Amino acid sequence: MKRLDGKTALITGAARGIGLAFAKAYIREGARVVLGDIDIARARSEATALGDAAFAVEMDVTRQDSIDAAVVASAAHFGPIDILINNAAIFTAAPIVEITRADYARCFEINVAGALFTMQAVARHMIERGAGGKIINMASQAGRRGEGLVAVYCASKAAIISLTQSAGLDLIRHGINVNAIAPGVVDGEHWDGVDAFFARYEGKESGQKKREVGAGVPFGRMGQASDLTGMAVFLASSEADYIVAQTYNVDGGQWMS
Ligand SMILES: NC(=O)c1ccc[n+]([C@@H]2O[C@H](COP(=O)([O-])OP(=O)(O)OC[C@H]3O[C@@H](n4cnc5c(N)ncnc54)[C@H](O)[C@@H]3O)[C@@H](O)[C@H]2O)c1
Repeated sequence: MKRLDGKTALITGAARGIGLAFAKAYIREGARVVLGDIDIARARSEATALGDAAFAVEMDVTRQDSIDAAVVASAAHFGPIDILINNAAIFTAAPIVEITRADYARCFEINVAGALFTMQAVARHMIERGAGGKIINMASQAGRRGEGLVAVYCASKAAIISLTQSAGLDLIRHGINVNAIAPGVVDGEHWDGVDAFFARYEGKESGQKKREVGAGVPFGRMGQASDLTGMAVFLASSEADYIVAQTYNVDGGQWMS
């Protein structure tokens, strides 16, 4: 018996990176996984490679009609959703004096409102079914403390930790566990973008910031998406039934709380 046998999971932002690694790990544990992503071409190609246990759905978490359609399409394809991972997010960085309202709004629309209203849509679906469920939000070490050049992204991830607490407390009466994972620095295309921001604002060479942050992790290297999958499987399993409203650091020792 695998740990997620018979379960259906919806993972947002699953076309690449951490979300895709979660999808693969869930399938290995017996789940069927819907890869929801705005990049539908890539989500489709990954879903095809994963086989019948994967299904790609075009999903823009900034649009309510898109969220609602993704929930309906997931349930139509694989049956009711047991697990949601709110993983889609963007990174942004700028000194305080250069932050624009447009950039702030876009980051909060995707990272915060996107997670909140996807959580809401899936929670309604789970409550109607009456069988509980598991919701996992992707926070970050960036949500644990601010960073000089990363105010908006850090604030968006602090909001995720807070939303996880409030939603966790509200939804547990329906048997829905809401928890979060706070990764540290995880290698991949996301971090290539982060590296480029720091190259621009700190005058670093391409790849330099990545090397520096990796060397600064107590474990001794940057994280890989595969370092996070154990926690994602655990929080989605029945072993985590008594865990409510928590955010777990999976970061090689970067943060303690
Ligand atoms: N990589 C890291 O170092 C790191 C560290 C801490 C937390 N995180 C968090 O982990 C999660 C995954 O990170 P990643 O490194 O895999 O990121 P990534 O940038 O590689 O992947 C993000 C995915 O989200 C999708 N996406 C973007 N906007 C969307 C929208 N409006 N609707 C639907 N999908 C959308 C993208 O197409 C992409 O496939 C994010 O929440 C991120 O903030 C990452």
